[in-house]
Amino acid sequence: MAETRTSLRHGILSDEHAGDREQLIEMLTKAYWMEIETVMSYTANSINPDGVRAQEIIESLEEDIQEELGHARQFGERIKELYGVVPGSLDFHAEQSYLQPPDDQVDIVHVIKGVIEAESGAIEHYNQIIEFCEGKDPVTQDMVTEILHDEEGHRRLFEGFLREYAIEGLA
Ligand SMILES: [Fe+2]
Ligand SMILES: [Fe+2]
Repeated sequence: MAETRTSLRHGILSDEHAGDREQLIEMLTKAYWMEIETVMSYTANSINPDGVRAQEIIESLEEDIQEELGHARQFGERIKELYGVVPGSLDFHAEQSYLQPPDDQVDIVHVIKGVIEAESGAIEHYNQIIEFCEGKDPVTQDMVTEILHDEEGHRRLFEGFLREYAIEGLA
């Protein structure tokens, strides 16, 4: 009976595409970890900053944390649908050196630049996933395209924040 079921599968879920599926699960796992690390970094950076002007950044990051957590869930669920397993915390390796707390907690430009770098990294990786999915997996492609849209919005917002500081010669 298992054979009949397998023969009914098409596209990325079929046996003949097991290799592509493995590769895609690896890319989705990387995306999952990027989202999880972003949640950690944005949480710290939405608590640490001091100063009147930091408040806008704090509020913005608080909103983003919820969205990034939602993205992590979406990536995890897609990994499962592709017959992969969402990894445990012991597999986690941190990479966001640029989003560590600054020496001075009023240094909001450091936070803004760190956020732009994190969003840019996500945008680059998600574009790669979308390209990989072309002609192979339209479902993952759609999902990641929507997430990419969110990240582009996040980056644009923080580019606007940075511009304000740049005009004053502070960035
Ligand atoms: Fe995200
Ligand atoms: Fe984002």
